[in-house]
Amino acid sequence: MEDLSTKSGLSGSIAFVIFGVTGDLTRRKLIPALYELSISKRLPEPLKIIGFARRDWTDEILKDKLRKGLDEFSKNTNLDTTVVENLLENASYVQSTFEDAAGYQALLEKLNELDIYNTLFYLATPPDAYIEIIQKIGKSGLMTRGAGWTRIVVEKPYGRDLASAEVLEKEIHSVFEEDQVYRIDHYLGKETVQNILVFRFANGIFEPLWNRNFVDHVQITVAETVGVGTRAGYYEKSGVIRDMFQNHLLQLLSLTAMEAPVAFNAKAVRDEKVKVLRALRPVCDADVGLNTYRAQYAGGYMGDERVIGYKAEDRVSQTSTTETFLAARLLVDNWRWAGVPFYVRSGKRLPSRFTEIAIQFKQIPLSLFNWHNMAGDAPNMLVINLQPNEGITLRFGAKRPGPINQIAPVSMEFNYKNAFGSEPPEAYERLLLDVLMGDATLFTRSDEVLSQWAFTSCILEAWEHSPVKNLPVYEAGTWGPQGVDDFINKDSGRQWRKPVY
Ligand code: BG6
Repeated sequence: MEDLSTKSGLSGSIAFVIFGVTGDLTRRKLIPALYELSISKRLPEPLKIIGFARRDWTDEILKDKLRKGLDEFSKNTNLDTTVVENLLENASYVQSTFEDAAGYQALLEKLNELDIYNTLFYLATPPDAYIEIIQKIGKSGLMTRGAGWTRIVVEKPYGRDLASAEVLEKEIHSVFEEDQVYRIDHYLGKETVQNILVFRFANGIFEPLWNRNFVDHVQITVAETVGVGTRAGYYEKSGVIRDMFQNHLLQLLSLTAMEAPVAFNAKAVRDEKVKVLRALRPVCDADVGLNTYRAQYAGGYMGDERVIGYKAEDRVSQTSTTETFLAARLLVDNWRWAGVPFYVRSGKRLPSRFTEIAIQFKQIPLSLFNWHNMAGDAPNMLVINLQPNEGITLRFGAKRPGPINQIAPVSMEFNYKNAFGSEPPEAYERLLLDVLMGDATLFTRSDEVLSQWAFTSCILEAWEHSPVKNLPVYEAGTWGPQGVDDFINKDSGRQWRKPVY
């Protein structure tokens, strides 16, 4: 394996400064990803972890918590203690509130003391702290020290509507240049999501079919079995629209619908994705009721387990109208896609967990054979399985053996694990490495995030202007209320896919 840790451009000591280091994200995702990078010799060194948070911790407590986090959350059950200790050896802690300027001075002194060359600031805090931290970084001299690069990673949610995202953009750009800003959408770090571009643009046979002449419609699904659990406080104010639609679903749609970029680099790829977002037909006012469908889960069974409904979850209001399921019908108004509906949906407490993009091709012009068991009579569908059975499936019709001409649906399958012998790496491994290498291709650009919000805000505004008392409910462990099926069915009798993984 190529040892990237000493590659030129990555030299010089790096500080990985985590604001909100005491939170879950650090233990669950960031440190396990750094460990994986380190063990595979991809982590640029020397890298020093510096935690910044208000809890009364010391360097030793921080190290201890991170060690325990690794034990609990690393995908590796046999941790290499030398690698762990090497990673945590220089970890240190700055105790401060996010408002206190003295904390930032202490951080500055620490960076000087450690002779840090490059600095990465990681906002792993609740989003309401972002602006405070950004302003304080700007005023503290942290931006002008160090001879190397300075970058900032911002987690989602990036704003809660267009107006708040614009305010955040203004603040961030008053301190950082756009090329220093890395906005995370962890879906872009998934190997299978990146493979959408490889599949489309490294192969010649599918792209000629990838348009309105051959595609009947596209279904993009992110289905989850989990409920909101301990995150209800956040979720109540977000719902699926802010939690999944504005970011992950719109990103998957952009990658599916975009034109070929002129090169595979951050600017070219993101230019094309932004064009798709701009071509989305706005869904505003009265169109919102026609083109979106939302619902909320009630109690039910997930397999044998009895689970409570959304309103019974801790910290959820009895009168909550927060949607835990959202389906939308979107149109991309450009020459490639005019008239082809993109149905997107995401929900919690659905019967199975999977993320997929299904391209349904058009019916043949004239049927010569008897179809058997073939929904909608259109056999050709390409399904990109993003998780959990990472792979790609092409469905077509084949002749059933026997004297009668009967056609049955069959599949050609590619499966990551079978083909490459291993599971794809975790999204955060790739994303953290890219930030450290200065590659922003898999991060959301300023105009991209604003376009996502511009589109989403219209739906949010319509919901706010015509509030409902109750949302349709669906029993946990089902595919949503009957209304969801009616929603897609009214468009020429189409049906949702309901695979069980
Ligand atoms: C997060 C959402 O962005 O994505 C969660 O906040 C959701 O609510 C999660 O569960 C799903 O991610 P993944 O990688 O498990 O599909």
